[in-house]
Amino acid sequence: MAMTHFKLRELFMKYCLSHDHKEIPPIPLVPKDDPTTLFTGSGMQQLVPYLLGEPHPLGKKLYNIQPCFRSQDIEEIGDNRHTTFFEMMGNWSLGTYFKKEQITWFWEFLTDILKLPKEKLYVAVFAGIKNIGADEETYETWKKLGLKENHIFRYGPESWWSRAGVPENMPPGEPGGPDSEVFYEFTQVEHNPTYGEKCHPNCDCGRFLEIGNSVFMQFKKNTDGSFSELPEKNVDFGGGLERILAAVNNDPDIFKTDLYATIITSIEQSSSKKYTDLENKSQIRVIADHIKASVFIIKNGVYPSNKEQGYFLRRLLRRAAVKMHKLTGKLNAKELGLIADQGVLVTYDKVHFDREQDKKLITNVIVEEINRFSKSIDRGLKEIQKIQTIDGKQAFDIYQSYGFPLEITEELFREKGQTVDKKQFYAEFQKHKDLSRTASSGKFKGGLADNSAQTLNYHTATHLLHQALYDVLGSEIRQEGSNITGERLRFDFYSTQKPSPEQIAKAQDTINSKIQEALPVEFKILPKAEAEKLGAKSFFREKYPDMVKVYFIGNYSKEFCGGPHVKNTKEIGKITIFKNEKIGSNLYRIYAK
Ligand code: SER
Repeated sequence: MAMTHFKLRELFMKYCLSHDHKEIPPIPLVPKDDPTTLFTGSGMQQLVPYLLGEPHPLGKKLYNIQPCFRSQDIEEIGDNRHTTFFEMMGNWSLGTYFKKEQITWFWEFLTDILKLPKEKLYVAVFAGIKNIGADEETYETWKKLGLKENHIFRYGPESWWSRAGVPENMPPGEPGGPDSEVFYEFTQVEHNPTYGEKCHPNCDCGRFLEIGNSVFMQFKKNTDGSFSELPEKNVDFGGGLERILAAVNNDPDIFKTDLYATIITSIEQSSSKKYTDLENKSQIRVIADHIKASVFIIKNGVYPSNKEQGYFLRRLLRRAAVKMHKLTGKLNAKELGLIADQGVLVTYDKVHFDREQDKKLITNVIVEEINRFSKSIDRGLKEIQKIQTIDGKQAFDIYQSYGFPLEITEELFREKGQTVDKKQFYAEFQKHKDLSRTASSGKFKGGLADNSAQTLNYHTATHLLHQALYDVLGSEIRQEGSNITGERLRFDFYSTQKPSPEQIAKAQDTINSKIQEALPVEFKILPKAEAEKLGAKSFFREKYPDMVKVYFIGNYSKEFCGGPHVKNTKEIGKITIFKNEKIGSNLYRIYAK
């Protein structure tokens, strides 16, 4: 019997608890106030301040299973292992245990608890680069655990992890370190020599699958480009729930795990096409992945649009629609809504959703968007057939006229052996739309935490703005999101009344008078119930652990928050609200600097 995802979740939880870890709730897939990324892409995202030294309210040993979305993989979807949405099983040491314990425990988890055969497991160890030496301690630990030398591979930049990737790409202040990946070998998969003469764990042919990665966060990039050791040595482990399940079931196709099986069945029913037929496989996988990711994104309050998260949602839904059209020759929006409900919501009911409660809104958003799109899809496909050679500007025109996201046009033209000039496409896009910087590069830059003084100023100012709006507009207002860069802060909120220019001016004055009062900014770690009783503001989309960190700005503002902040409001300087706009029904957005 194949292992279920419920069982794997339970075994991971027990393993972490048996090593004294506390569970931290996952953060929303659309982060509340991460200035640098549109979606949560790894479990460690919420831990950045703590990896850099802030104390965590739940202590030094933590774990969770975090829903993640990584759009950079969007074009790879269709093979048996890549997905845009996945769940990351994570555990963290904030300056307590380090390499030996982490490696030994994970090995025990894989071989004793999950009973993976040792001979099918391979590991990678950091070989060193430029001024950073090889990770001998990790190498020796694996050897002591009984791994043969031909199961331990040494890699350079591939075995270094930071949110920005290799050391050169890390911005100042970003933490990172050597990592050690574990791979499972599917011996039934023949090596494909187009990926290189010899197969090895980091080969992309599909024989080896990376199932977990322990990052030893021990460095921080300095402004001059050098690295210094972090005050505490941390462990950041991430393992793919879907991939570990595939390894336990010894089947290289993650779409056969129960995290996809029900979704695939509902696609088969809607399309009357079989997943087992080779010609349908890749299309069905794309539909399964994209509808799943869309359901999670919609649950986070995002609607299809031409900007930021909404643009990604639109791309996912329209791409799924084109694949469905290819599969069946027609498009039925209702069928895609059914896949969302009978496939995705059934799979995750009571884990991430309440099917009965969530079904209506989620399927409505999907059906509406696909209906909008279905009006132009036939005309668009016909138009594309007519064009012989394509450039980026034409691809943009197709997007403008028919709503075909870039990768759909690319795929149609790939069949004709042509590539679309992405740069030109985005240059056109930029001319027309204020596309977010992350979307315009076609992928997420993965966080790039910016801990500059200005970002801290704006973060604290955001708390002041939240309280000021509450004072001016009343207690019904609720934060919907925020976004902070070195240049400005942005704050989204719910309100049934449109703020008047006088009210906006009043909020601005209040912020500046609180700045002038030179209020101290301090945090306390409190039981959640106590923090709620104090009236500390929280983010309604976020689940909080039993112990929480609350930031106090004098007696003026109290808010659930991980930090970091300025020490005193006088550091902030003057704040000017330079733009406010309505962004949806009862939703408003303020920009200030
Ligand atoms: N942050 C690391 C990763 O994403 C491990 O959690 O691979």
